[in-house]
Amino acid sequence: MSFKETNIREIKESAVKMISDDWALVTAGDNKKFNTMTVSWGGLGELWGRDVAFIFIRPQRYTLEFINREDFFTLSFFGGKYKKELAFCGSKSGRDVDKAAATGLTPASYGDAVFFDEAETVLVCKKIAVFDILPDGFLDRSIDDNYKNGDYHKVFVGEIVKTLQK
Ligand SMILES: Cc1cc2nc3c(=O)[nH]c(=O)nc-3n(C[C@H](O)[C@H](O)[C@H](O)COP(=O)(O)O)c2cc1C
Repeated sequence: MSFKETNIREIKESAVKMISDDWALVTAGDNKKFNTMTVSWGGLGELWGRDVAFIFIRPQRYTLEFINREDFFTLSFFGGKYKKELAFCGSKSGRDVDKAAATGLTPASYGDAVFFDEAETVLVCKKIAVFDILPDGFLDRSIDDNYKNGDYHKVFVGEIVKTLQK
């Protein structure tokens, strides 16, 4: 593994491109048992005086069980590569398949936080807050079109405690 620890401010890539266009894997669990899924909604920024990542997880995701249970989650960014593997991790559930084995992506760990060796950038995030998306807050009512099944996301705020880059 050739990651070096850096500061989130040293990342030159647009956060919007990294998440929205290139996608990321959110992973939670430990070396023995973890799960991962693809996300393209989220953000990086500052909240409560801390550097944070925001992720939005629907209630039916298996990964949610892991994020709920664990103190940390990671975000692995692949710089636009491994799209086929990320599409797989974003369409199959860890309830049915071992995604690392099926894609060939290599799990690596930093303490108990699991991420993927093929990533270019990894954020290790300490869970500091969780909220339910409530439709009452939608000022633009058309946002509700994203929730035809009533499966409103949980929003997790993770304090970025480590930034690793290749
Ligand atoms: C490009 C892409 C982006 C996605 N973004 C999100 C997201 O931000 N939040 C979410 O809950 N699901 C998102 N998904 C869907 C999950 O990744 C998908 O349902 C996954 O199979 C869940 O796996 P799990 O059941 O093992 O947790 C996305 C899928 C793709 C392909």
